Amino acid sequence: FAGEGQGVWRYADTLPLDAGVSIQEGATPLYEAPQLEADIGLEALRIKHEGMNPTGSFKDRGMTVGVAVATELGVDRLACASTGNTSAALAAYGSRGGMETLVLLPAGKVAAGKIAQASLHGARILEVDGNFDACLDIVQELAGQGEAYLLNSLNPFRLEGQKTIGLEILEGFLADYDTVPDRIVLPVGNAGNTAALYKAFRELVQAGALSRDEVPKLVGVQAEGAAPMVEAVENGADEVRRWDDVETRATAIRIGNPVNAPKALPGIRETDGTAISVTDEEITAAQRDLAGEGIGVEPASAASVAGLRKLRAEGIVTDDERVACLTTGHLLKDPDAAAAAGSEPESVPAETAGVLEHLEY
Ligand code: F0G
Repeated sequence: FAGEGQGVWRYADTLPLDAGVSIQEGATPLYEAPQLEADIGLEALRIKHEGMNPTGSFKDRGMTVGVAVATELGVDRLACASTGNTSAALAAYGSRGGMETLVLLPAGKVAAGKIAQASLHGARILEVDGNFDACLDIVQELAGQGEAYLLNSLNPFRLEGQKTIGLEILEGFLADYDTVPDRIVLPVGNAGNTAALYKAFRELVQAGALSRDEVPKLVGVQAEGAAPMVEAVENGADEVRRWDDVETRATAIRIGNPVNAPKALPGIRETDGTAISVTDEEITAAQRDLAGEGIGVEPASAASVAGLRKLRAEGIVTDDERVACLTTGHLLKDPDAAAAAGSEPESVPAETAGVLEHLEY
């Protein structure tokens, strides 16, 4: 299913366009993580690090398609609500495409690296006195009134691009293990990736490239303080109840109204997957575990590994499984969280003897 293009565009045959507004997105690493693999107790564990995209998150895969569609439509203003990463990607791809960008962010709840990106790439940044879900309500209304072209994951072209995460994971596992993964574990906010991966796998089944029982189980992980999808899966509900009060250190997934739930819930159910929540402490521990393998991720990304560890401890994931964990954003997106989770700098005098004395102390 892959062709000649580069990154995301190697999969142009599965996308609605032949080429996009591109900054060489996709083709991210599928890292081995031997210490974590042994520690959690799995046949194989691989980390698909989406933080290695041009703006440091998976959003680039969606934007390369979505912004190209906007170009074809001839719109001049693009907009999104964002917990940060979407705004960084929209700003970069929008300016590359020569369009004006408008981003609505929940005031005080967006990590520093992401605001810096949106700012330098030239977005007009509106800080809203409300949470992400309120920002998205407003952007949907603006788009409905023709004020801007919406580039949140409600835009189906975004999800088309994000399908390629699933295609790359399958290709990587086939190359290294001669089989697709048993399970893919991913953080969930708006559930766009969950929906996109499920769509990719459905299309492979329809094309006869994958059998139904080979489709990897999809496991969504949310932070305890923002877990409406987990609640719906646990209750066997068909609809997700919107949470008005959400809180977590993993600000990227501080979301109470996962707008892609109608597309994502069937993906979790029909692949025999599940959804689980993890505490902020478990997220930070997983962020440190990944860092110990040399893999630097932002807190929301580490939720996938935290959730996997928990499911393995509960025996829902078994030791004979081959698992892919998706890490969605780079460590430098949220430098404050990284510094808080890591070691403290130590003050030393500006001379070698003093440094040695300090080290021996
Ligand atoms: N991980 C990171 C790092 C994210 O930035 C997001 C979403 C998610 C996971 C959740 O992905 O929505 O596909 O379930 N960030 C959006 C933003 C909301 O505005 O940057 P999902």
